[in-house]
Amino acid sequence: MMTAQPPVHVPVLLQEVLDNLVLPPAARILDLTLGLGGHAEALLARADGQSRYLGVDRDPEARDLARQRLGADARLTILPGTYEDLWENASFLAWRTAEAPGGFDAILADLGVSTLQLRSPGRGFSFRDEGPLDMRMDPEHGLSARAWIAEQTDESLADAIYHYGEERASRPIARAILRALQDGRLETTHDLAQAVYRVIPREPAKRKGHSDPATRTFQAIRIAVNGELDRLAAALEAAVGHLRPGGRLAVISFHSLEDRIVKQTLRRLAGIYDGPGRTAPVELPRIVKLIHAGGLAPSDAEAAANPPSRSARLRVAERLA
Ligand SMILES: C[S@@+](CC[C@H](N)C(=O)[O-])C[C@H]1O[C@@H](n2cnc3c(N)ncnc32)[C@H](O)[C@@H]1O
Repeated sequence: MMTAQPPVHVPVLLQEVLDNLVLPPAARILDLTLGLGGHAEALLARADGQSRYLGVDRDPEARDLARQRLGADARLTILPGTYEDLWENASFLAWRTAEAPGGFDAILADLGVSTLQLRSPGRGFSFRDEGPLDMRMDPEHGLSARAWIAEQTDESLADAIYHYGEERASRPIARAILRALQDGRLETTHDLAQAVYRVIPREPAKRKGHSDPATRTFQAIRIAVNGELDRLAAALEAAVGHLRPGGRLAVISFHSLEDRIVKQTLRRLAGIYDGPGRTAPVELPRIVKLIHAGGLAPSDAEAAANPPSRSARLRVAERLA
């Protein structure tokens, strides 16, 4: 009899993460997006027996699968919740005081959704598979995508689709979605995709390099439902505050909106002024140094082997003394 294999999320930019998060003996590692534990497994393989690994994820299913995969490793502790709320979380603070009083040597944030979430029709993230219109990374909290859409006006929905999906046809798409809702035709992921196709018809044969017209709208609604960009800058700044001097933060982003926030935040923490005019009105403190000014992209080999990795960017900052 075959045993069911837990789903695998191929960790992106893995070699680059391992090269940049250099672990000392008895390393203290914080993984803000444990997912299915792909990066965790590789980092734990490099860490010595005295090291400790704290993994956080908001998705209960991901935590269960990571536990199945790595749970036997006594160096690992898994915490529920979001990285935005982690810094005030009593369990986190107790762990930090007991296990990492000097701060973390390495912090990893691999942002966005996992393959598990995208490929599970019941989670409602993908227009390819029919499923309920949910899209919550944590199905136990917050509004489903359908409930969130039901709270929007034409204007607020169009704004979200424009800003988070960079979709130029945001206004007619928002109207088509709200019309489908009023007509009782907005229950599933396919219903949402059909509303988009009413505005931008889907080509029968997908041309090379052309993505499905529903891609941008799905991305936008997912970002809004999960509040993905709302407190990212503050969370990264808080993470830097928990690094020991010489410790490194590595952040992987998957789209330009996310990467812009990561880049701007890390540059500001490096004391680099990007505002209007040539000089900053007040001198910015230098809390980190940037390790690769432009960030790192996947190698051609990785992009060919794992096409979704193509849009990934890794940015690394090192805490100064
Ligand atoms: C790209 S996956 C991480 C994959 C992981 N590095 C691996 O190799 O298996 C992102 C994970 O972050 C989680 N996540 C996204 N936003 C989060 C947040 N604000 N707080 C906590 N977890 C979050 C998602 O639930 C998902 O499991």
